[in-house]
Amino acid sequence: MAQSSPPGSETTARFAHITGWGKALPEQVMTNDDIAAFVETNDDWIFTRTGIRQRHIAHEAESTATLAYNAARQALEVADILPTDLDMIIVATSTAEHIFPSTASQVQDWLNASEAGAFDLSAACSGFVYGLQLAADSIRAGSTDAALVIGAETMSRIIDWTDRSTCILFGDGAGAVVLRASDTPGGVLSSVLRSDGAGGDLLAVPSVGSIDAKESPVGVNGNQLYKISMAGGEVFKFATRVVSESIEQACRLARIQVEDIDLVIPHQANRRILQAAARKLGIDLAKFMSNVERYGNTSAASIPIALCEAIEQRRIQSRDHIALVGFGGGLTWASMIIRWGVPKPSEQHGSLIKRQQRHVQYRLARLRRLRRRMARRLQSSGD
Ligand code: UT7
Repeated sequence: MAQSSPPGSETTARFAHITGWGKALPEQVMTNDDIAAFVETNDDWIFTRTGIRQRHIAHEAESTATLAYNAARQALEVADILPTDLDMIIVATSTAEHIFPSTASQVQDWLNASEAGAFDLSAACSGFVYGLQLAADSIRAGSTDAALVIGAETMSRIIDWTDRSTCILFGDGAGAVVLRASDTPGGVLSSVLRSDGAGGDLLAVPSVGSIDAKESPVGVNGNQLYKISMAGGEVFKFATRVVSESIEQACRLARIQVEDIDLVIPHQANRRILQAAARKLGIDLAKFMSNVERYGNTSAASIPIALCEAIEQRRIQSRDHIALVGFGGGLTWASMIIRWGVPKPSEQHGSLIKRQQRHVQYRLARLRRLRRRMARRLQSSGD
C-alpha cells in the first residue's frame, strides 16, 4: 500500500495510467416502443430528438452496487491486480441505495479490498471524470498506488415513469477503471472540473434533506421526492456550450491542440449535443464515441461504459490522445485529456495465479463479512 512521503523527501515523477476497465449492463432491455406503450411518445420522436433506440433496465434483484461490483471485477481482471492491492475506491453515482453506507463501501466489502478507502462522489453525469481526476492526483502525489474508479447508476429507480420528457432518456449500467501509478510518462495529462450551482434547479432529484419536503412530499419546483426533473432545453444549451469550451481548456492545459485529439468520449446524453459540440470544435463527428442508441443516458456510468466499448472496438491505440467530457446536474461539467499508455487488450496476459487469488479473495469476502458481524455481536453481548 502506498504511503505519503514526508515533505522534502526524494521523489521521482509519477504518472497515473488506466490499466484495467470493465462494464456491466442489466440484461433487461426496454425499447422506445416499450415506453410508447405507457406514455404518449413514439420511436421516431425519441430517436430523432435524442439518438436513443433502447436502454437497459435493472432487475429488482440488481442495484447500483451490484452493477458497480460486476464492472469492478472485470476491471481488476484486465489490470491483473488483486483487490487487496487497491488503495482507493471511488463510486460516482446519483442512485446509491443508501445515504450511507456508500456504494463504494459495499463494493469494497464484496471485493475483499481490505486495504482500500472507499467513498461515493456526487457530481451527477460529470462524476466519473471528477473521480478519475481525484484518483490521478492522489497517485501523482504518492499517497495512492492503485485506485478503482467506478461510475454506476440505476436511473430507472429515480425516473418518474409518467413524465415523457425524462423517462425516455435514461438507462442503467456501470463502468469501472483501474488507475495505477507508473513512471512511464502519459496517462491523465490534464483536467478541468467546474460547477455552476445557480443552475441547480434545471436538473434535480430532491432528497431526504430537502427543506421543501418537510411541508409536503414534494420537492424543488413542485417535483416529487427522489424523482428526476429536468428543464431539457436549458440543459441542452448549457451542454453544447461547456462541452466544446472545456475540451479546449483541457487541451491547453495538456499542451496539445484540439486537432491532436484522436477520440472524444463524451457523456452520452443526446446525439444532437455531440453533433453541436463537434461542429463548434471543428472535429469530425466520427471522432466522437457514441453508444447512446443502445444504452440511453446512464449518467455517471456513461463515460466509462463508452470507454470500455471504444477499447473493445479497437478505437484506442497506444499514445492516442483521448478527451473525456461530462456534464449534468449541479450544474457540473468536467473535461480530461489522457495519453493512452497501456498495451492493447490482445497483448495482455492475465496471470493464472493472480486470477485464482482474486477468486479466492471474492469467496473470502463473504466469510470475512460473516466473521466480522459475528465478532461484533459477541462483543456487544459480552459488554
Ligand atoms: O445527463 C444530463 C444532461 N442531460 C442532457 O443533456 C439532456 C439535454 N436535453 C435534451 O436532450 C433535450 O432537451 C430533450 C431530448 C430532453 C428534449 O428535446 P427538445 O427538442 O428540447 O424537446 P422539447 O422539450 O422542446 O419538446 C418539444 C415538444 C413539446 O411539445 P410542444 O410543446 O412543442 O407541443 C413536448 O411536449 O415535444 C414534446 N415532447 C414529446 N413528444 C413525444 C416532449 N417529450 C416528448 C416525448 N414524445 N417523449
